[in-house]
Amino acid sequence: MIEIVDIRYCRLGTADLNGAVQFATELIGLELVARENGAAYVRGDDRDHNICYFEGDPADQTLGLEVRTFDALTAAEATLQAAGVETRRGDDDAAAARRCMGFLNFRDPTGNSIDLVVRPFHSGNRYFPSRDAGISEFSHVGLKTTDAPRDEAFWISLFNMRANDWIGTAPLMSFDQVHHRIALFPTDHAGIQHINFQTESLDDIMRSYYFFRDRQVHISFGPGRHATSGAMFLYYEGPDGMVYEYSSGVRMVDETWRPRQLPFTAESFCVWGSRPDIAEFQAD
Ligand SMILES: [Fe+2]
Repeated sequence: MIEIVDIRYCRLGTADLNGAVQFATELIGLELVARENGAAYVRGDDRDHNICYFEGDPADQTLGLEVRTFDALTAAEATLQAAGVETRRGDDDAAAARRCMGFLNFRDPTGNSIDLVVRPFHSGNRYFPSRDAGISEFSHVGLKTTDAPRDEAFWISLFNMRANDWIGTAPLMSFDQVHHRIALFPTDHAGIQHINFQTESLDDIMRSYYFFRDRQVHISFGPGRHATSGAMFLYYEGPDGMVYEYSSGVRMVDETWRPRQLPFTAESFCVWGSRPDIAEFQAD
């Protein structure tokens, strides 16, 4: 069993690095940490960075998850290989570019690129946003899946993950007390489906809603409240079609939590009646 201890970063290729940095800093409210070697690192909490944008193909996307030690990384490598999953160890330069001490990369059955990282950098400096969106942390991602039950079985059998609720076949999974850290949404290709930042309150979400409306940022969904996690949310679209989310009030669960099955309907995504303009959230 591979023990994930944290969700660390997304690496996103972009054809327009300046545009990505501008959107991240001026609109999402992230802090530019560094810009080097054709990449830019931004954050919304005390991790070194939450997103690395790099000059490249926008379809080139990787999720970084943390394991505790080098021994755990070696054990994870063996576990994945025994399950028939190809793994690739990163060299020192690639680890430096990920701002961690070591990592390996693999693909889930859909083809999503995943880094398992050891000792990712923590920042000694307080997160200082260029726009105060009220962000408290990078909290979860949606991943695209071409077969949700198959990919759920992959994550649950090899990792310390469990599904805490389902919407249709889409599992909302976690490795800790936060209701979901990775959610799998069915579609026909791999990729990161959305990137979530928690905000301190609903006020932050509503402030951003009006702020974005004034600036013609495409609001994809919300403001609303999820039936599953209970979080209030706002989804919006950034460069390269990436969907970002602010949410506040995500449910914490413990071992007494009983996962629930919700139907794949708009009401399961939003109890307030907002309708998603996000393909993976729409019923056929
Ligand atoms: Fe989300």
